[in-house]
This record gives sequence, C-alpha cells and structure tokens, in this order.
Amino acid sequence: MDDISAEIDRLVTELNRHSYLYHVLDAPEISDEAYDVLFRRLRELEKTSGYVPHASPSLRVGAAPLDKFDKAAHSVPMLSLEDTFSFGEVDEFDRRVKKLLQTDDVAYTAEPKYDGLAVALTYEQGRLIRAATRGDGTTGEDVTQNAITIKTIPLSITGTDIPDLIEIRGEIYMQKADFDELNRRREIDSQPLFANPRNAAAGSVRQLDPAVTAERKLNFTCYGIGKLEGLTLSSQTALIAWLKRHLFPTPWRFKSAKAIGEAIEYIKYMETVRDGLPFNIDGVVVKVDDFGLRGRLGEKTRVPRWAIAYKYQAHRAITRIEAIVPSIGRTGVITPVAILAPVSVGGVTVSRSTLHNWDEIQRKGIRPGDSVLIERAGDVIPRVVEVVEHGTASDIQVAEPVVCPECGSRAVREEGGAVLRCIGLNCPPQLQGRIIHFASRAALNIDGLGEKVAVQLFECGLVKNITDIFMLKREDLEKLPRFAAKSAVNLIKAIEASKAATLARFLYALGIRHTGEFVSKLIAAHFETIEALYGVDIEALRLIKQLGGKTSAALSEFFADDGNIRAIETLKTLGLALSNPDYGADSDNKGKLSGLAFVITGTLPISRKEAEGQIRGAGGTVSSSVSKQTDYLLAGESPGSKLEKARALGVKILSYDEYLSLL
Ligand code: IVH
Repeated sequence: MDDISAEIDRLVTELNRHSYLYHVLDAPEISDEAYDVLFRRLRELEKTSGYVPHASPSLRVGAAPLDKFDKAAHSVPMLSLEDTFSFGEVDEFDRRVKKLLQTDDVAYTAEPKYDGLAVALTYEQGRLIRAATRGDGTTGEDVTQNAITIKTIPLSITGTDIPDLIEIRGEIYMQKADFDELNRRREIDSQPLFANPRNAAAGSVRQLDPAVTAERKLNFTCYGIGKLEGLTLSSQTALIAWLKRHLFPTPWRFKSAKAIGEAIEYIKYMETVRDGLPFNIDGVVVKVDDFGLRGRLGEKTRVPRWAIAYKYQAHRAITRIEAIVPSIGRTGVITPVAILAPVSVGGVTVSRSTLHNWDEIQRKGIRPGDSVLIERAGDVIPRVVEVVEHGTASDIQVAEPVVCPECGSRAVREEGGAVLRCIGLNCPPQLQGRIIHFASRAALNIDGLGEKVAVQLFECGLVKNITDIFMLKREDLEKLPRFAAKSAVNLIKAIEASKAATLARFLYALGIRHTGEFVSKLIAAHFETIEALYGVDIEALRLIKQLGGKTSAALSEFFADDGNIRAIETLKTLGLALSNPDYGADSDNKGKLSGLAFVITGTLPISRKEAEGQIRGAGGTVSSSVSKQTDYLLAGESPGSKLEKARALGVKILSYDEYLSLL
C-alpha cells in the first residue's frame, strides 16, 4: 500500500471516530472547522488517487436519484409488537411468559420505543451492503443509498469479533428540533409541512433522491438483529453491548431488568422524562432478555410472544376556546391561534393552541365558545383535535384577516394555497430572516454580515429594519461584544461596497416570494428601474414569458404595498444606486441550452428541481449519470463521485456561477 492510500485510510478512521463522538456520544473532541479541514484533505486525496474506501465519510453526500426502489425481502420477518396500556397488562405478560417457559427465572430488558420507521441493515464481512425498510414485514424497499447518508449508521464494522453476516435492526427517526427546523424551511419554500417527526423521517428515507435524504437530519438507533452468521450473541444485553463496542447507536438508557418490576419502574421513569427528550418516544418496549428463551416462546401471527410495547397515553384535555386571533411567525405566515381557558395537559398549563390555517377552522367548524379536545404530543405545540361541543356563540364567523396583525401590511393568500402571508418588507417578526437573506452572498453580498452577526445586530437593537443596515457606524459596532475593531471596519466597508449592487441582486435581496436569482434577472431585463415596478400589475408581468402566475402575483402584491415602496425609497436616499446592466439583455432563455446534456452533482444554492426546470426550460436535457454524451457537469458544494467521472471523461465542469452566466 502506498503512502497516499495509507493516509486516506488513516483519515477515514479518524473522521469516523470524530463523527461518532459528535453524532452518537454528543461529545466532540474537535471543532467543526477542524473536522472540515480533515474532511477536505480526505476528499482531495481521494480525488487525486481515485481510492475511496468503503467506510469513507465522503460517500455520505448522496448518490444519483433513483427511478424507483428495488424490493428487499426479509429472510427473517420483521415483526410488529403487541400494545399494552396498563401495568396490569405488563404483569399479565410476565405471567404468560413464565407459564409458557415453565420457569420463574426470566430476565427482561426495557428500552424506549422510538417513534420513527424500522429498517434492517445487512453487513457482510463487516461491510454495509443493504438497508431495507420494514414494508409489510416480509418485503420492504431497498433504501441503501439513502441510509448511507445517515451519519450515525456505520458504513463498516471495525474491531474484533465481526460476524460473516449480521442484519442489524433499528429505528430511523428525526429529533424534535430538527423536525421543527425542517418544517420552518419548508414553510418558507411553500412546501407542504410534515405532520410529525415520524412522517418527516419516513418521508426522508423513502425519497428517490439520496441528495435530499442527505440534507435531512436523521438519526438511528439499533434494537435488534435478524440474520446472524459467524458469531454468537445470546441475549439482548449481550447484543446491545456488542453494538456499543462496534460504535452503533443504541437505545437511550437501555436497561437490563432482573424482574418485571424493574421494567415497570423503568416505564414510570421514562414517562417522567419523555417530554424533555430530544426525540419522540411513544412508549417502552419490554423484551425477554435471553435469545434461547425467545426461541422457545416463538411468535403469534405478526407479533412475538417474547416482547410487548407499553404505550403512553397522548396528553389530552378538554377546554373552551375564548377567542381566535391571528398570529404571525418569523416566516411571515399568519396563522389562527385559539386562546383557551387555561387547562392542565399532562402537567403543563396550556392557554393557546395553533389552528394551523384558516381553512381548517372552516373545515372543523371551530368557533369561539366551543369546547374542544386538545392534544400535546411531546414538545410539540398543542393542537386542537376536534370540537367536542359547540358553544352558544357558534354563529360568530371567524374572519380571515386582511392585514398583518403586526405591521399592517397586506395579508395575502396564494392562489390555491392554504397559507396566509404578510408581504411587509419591514415586518418585525420577519426581520431577522429578511436581514440574513438581504446580506447573503447571492443577494447584496455583504461580507461579514452572515447569520451570526445579523442575529447579533438584530438582538442588540442596532438593526431594527433593512434600512438600518446602511446607517451603521463603526463606533457602534466596536462597542459590541466579540466585535474586533478590524471586523467593524471591514463590515462598514462591505456595506459601502454593497450599495453598488445591481437592480437584479437588489430584487433578489428583497426576498419576495418565488423571486429567486433567476427570476430577479428576468425582471431586471424587462424593467429598467425599480420605480417602473411600483404598482406594477399582474398583466404587465405576465408579458414576460417565463414568469409564472404565482410569481407575477407575488411581485405585484409586493410592489402594491406603500410601506415597501417607502422602504425602498429610503434605501435609495441612503446611497443604493440600483444600476441595471441586465436591462434589455435577452432574458428569454428558450433555446439557450438547446441540445446540451447536463448532469448535476452536489448541493446548489437552488433546489435540484429548480435547476432541472431551468435547464429543461432553456432547451437542455438533464440525466442522472455522467457519460461521454454529457456536455456539462453542474457541480455544487460537496460534489459526489460524478465529479471524478466527469474529469476522467473530460466533461466540462461548471460552477453554479458559471452556469448562471451561461444562462
Ligand atoms: S422491537 C419483534 N424495539 O416499534 C420486535 N421495536 O410496534 C419488534 N420500535 O416495527 C421490534 N423502538 O419500528 C423494537 N426499542 C424498540 C423499538 C421498536 C421502536 C418500533 C419498530 C417496530 C414497531 C413495532
């Protein structure tokens, strides 16, 4: 083995160790930056040598999209569990087990019942070769390409006592905070929201494009085995110890219980802490520890006789709705909120509950004065499940607001959409997000005003709206904690420089819905000045061929708002030139890429779908793998193996910026 291969192997081992410390143990030894340095070094060496080990973390970025999943048969069926809801039933389970086994000497294990989806991971000679969903228990789907993007799933088993074949079973799930963040982003992008972390996890795993799965924050925990060859494990306790030793994530607070009473104590304990856990659990699984005894107990139709699930009750209560008021979130979405007569739900006093959207109020017939059933699942905000009884005021109509409750700008609903939004540029709850977007690289590109600094400036009150950015003084910045004199000077310089931004960039920076970089350029090509857009009507916009109905509507609504126009005028007086070199440029891209074959790899600033749409719209084709027929490989961040292939075949590689100028 040469020096490079040896260094690659060393880096893979080292990076996997740090990934385990970070993702599984939550106890990193090095900073994210230090990890990135090692990771980049690995990618570089892999690229020059062409040697990519099976366990390399560089394989986790997501392979090419699939057309469909292959079927995956389970040679040992993946069973379900019998549900129980009382300690009496748990005792009953214990008695049944002992009677069947004709012994009182039975030890159990207890572990959380994770609320996600079951998968089986097959390792042959220590290498992950397949990941399959449970499906109907006999046949699932092959989701290997997606599973390898999950950082806590080991790509290979290292160390001693590695079996010839092992099928490890466990649950893929999403943490509550990651679920909230995912839905927040989806809301911004007008994508349908996931109902709960379990649906989000399942949707992310059953995703034909592994690059999308790679972006989702998924976790894994192991709780069982299917096939096993070349190693003997005699109990659940031994299995969990073996898994831990081989760096697999295992159930939180796994417990070996000498008797059923200990398992019941564990169930009680879990119930007291479950709301505070970072992930959702819907109960506890109690299992007979010894695998030999399990074999003697066998199974019923679809459930084993050696395990049960104890399910916790959802936290529910009945109370009265006192009022329904609009509330605006950080993304500008205005949702109806029910003000409730305070009630204790699972030990927490609840006095507000989201009603999601205005259609749901109509659909469920919810009115002030109604008695409603509310539910609190884990950390998740309480929701109204149903109306139990209509109150006397049930003839009061709940009207959808026409203006934003915070800033008074117009509240608009997208055609066919359920979501009501405020379009105010300087709407307080939205400002933090707006400032971050405004200063971002593709927008006004204010170097030094990234997310962290934007939040800091917003929180200390120096930047209360977009225009405040241009009134910042060096002296103000220098007074801030963690703000070095040099960064203050640099930031002021960057803000000055950003005043020269073109109209297209400025339009993009405004964060108008559906108005990405591409649309912004298109608008700048057709409208010479920003003033020409003031009060623009949909019809005028629809003359631009490539502009969709929703985009035209969003633009015309934005520029119909007096507050928005005033804010733009102020920005002009503060020195924003808004020159427009794009005006008159042939923005009709039809045919620009005609006959050209594209392949996309890595993460782009826009979604894959959007990029594909643009390429096809301009006459190009997009395929999933690089071949001699490929004209361009459009490479985003963290490109996959396609990059090497393109290099080897001499295919031209385009950065996103180069691609934009090609368009
Ligand atoms: S044992 C025959 N252990 O619950 C054994 N399942 O309701 C079956 N689950 O399909 C699985 N946490 O998706 C087991 N600690 C745990 C679990 C667990 C979550 C899920 C799993 C299974 C379902 C059965």
